[in-house]
Amino acid sequence: MHDETLAIHAGYAPDGTRAVAVPIYQTVAHDFVDAEHAAGIMDLETPGFHYNRINNPTVDVLERRLTALEGGAAAMAVSSGAAAVSMSVLNLLGAGDNLVTVPQLYGATYTYFAHVLPRLGIETRFAPNDDPGSIAGLIDERTKAVFCETVGNPAGNVIDLAAVTSLAHERGVPVITDNTVATPFLLKPIRHGADVVIHSLTKFIGGHGTTMGGMIIDAGTFPWTQHPDRFGFMIEPEPAFHGVQYASQFPDAPYITRCRTVGLRNTGCSLSPFNAFLHLQGLETLAVRLPRHEANARVIAEYLGSDPRVSWVSFLGRPDNPYHELARHYLGERIPSIMTFGVRGGREAGIAVFDSVRLFKRLLNMGDAKSLITHPASTTHRQLRPKELELAGVSPDMVRLSIGLEHPDDLIEDLDQALSAATTVSA
Ligand SMILES: Cc1ncc(COP(=O)(O)O)c(C=O)c1O
Repeated sequence: MHDETLAIHAGYAPDGTRAVAVPIYQTVAHDFVDAEHAAGIMDLETPGFHYNRINNPTVDVLERRLTALEGGAAAMAVSSGAAAVSMSVLNLLGAGDNLVTVPQLYGATYTYFAHVLPRLGIETRFAPNDDPGSIAGLIDERTKAVFCETVGNPAGNVIDLAAVTSLAHERGVPVITDNTVATPFLLKPIRHGADVVIHSLTKFIGGHGTTMGGMIIDAGTFPWTQHPDRFGFMIEPEPAFHGVQYASQFPDAPYITRCRTVGLRNTGCSLSPFNAFLHLQGLETLAVRLPRHEANARVIAEYLGSDPRVSWVSFLGRPDNPYHELARHYLGERIPSIMTFGVRGGREAGIAVFDSVRLFKRLLNMGDAKSLITHPASTTHRQLRPKELELAGVSPDMVRLSIGLEHPDDLIEDLDQALSAATTVSA
């Protein structure tokens, strides 16, 4: 079926009540029939639910829906996008291992990789840029994963995913990619070789700025058994869960099975059933929201590009964007409604625009129905040093916009008055 249909129907078979909307199963646990039933469920031999830190029927529908949309084998929801980042990585890496990544990352992801993983004995190797050869050149025998964002936030770079995955696979390493900015409607990373796709559901998928959430989707294609030295824990009995052997007992989706039995079960960053319900609501209208987001963004980018108070505009829909061709290749004709621009007057002028808007909301999120503005250097990326900011593609004057669903004329009016307040250059 098409994405529009999957986003509304995939993964849900009504129960005896024939409820049309996915019910919110607001429960902590499920009653076992008897000891044998309990044993079957707890040994993962009988399908079903027992304790909602590990799985829940409402969350399960959301997991199946994202699996269908991304074309994966199975998925696991978590409480936030940040939890998806950390758990997807910790499912493969431990002390002594290294992660290869790029500098163009969401700020908290960068901080986690640069400053938290090393304290766990995990080395993070940042490529100097997003060139596939530079990334692959950092892989060695202790590399357990390559991590990148399909479309970087806020840098707006588009990774050459097919090249990165093919180089990583040649070296026996899986690729985890964050598809938050693009969503599965614009880009399907598994088709380009990604082994694991993660999302912050908090953004376009939830879509209304109401609900945190994250998702990890296992493509089910990485050949773990061909790399016993690197990924013995996917093949040998699991000491943390009844000695299960992921690759042989769960060949369709061994990675996500381990994520659930070791990661989610022991860290407890589960998604609540109510939040899963809200993300299901968001998914149902994503197909009609995205084109409106994009149409508005194109109008705003054109307006900014022609305004003398604006020194530069970075938007994937503009032919002058260095990633325009890669965007056409990976996103087709569709463009995410995120853009950045610089204001004449530098950092102070950028902050002044941020301070002066009246309709745009000053906050860190993106993908909301409401238009949002951020000054990354002083907010999402404020912990980065100047050199790190430069590598992350964040200049001091950069203003990031997430364009919502309002009438574009109202957004332009707001930007116009904010630019007037921020700079002495006349429009
Ligand atoms: C690309 C990307 N990944 C992950 C995250 C983290 O998601 P959350 O805020 O849901 O924890 C964000 C948040 O902005 C993001 O932009």
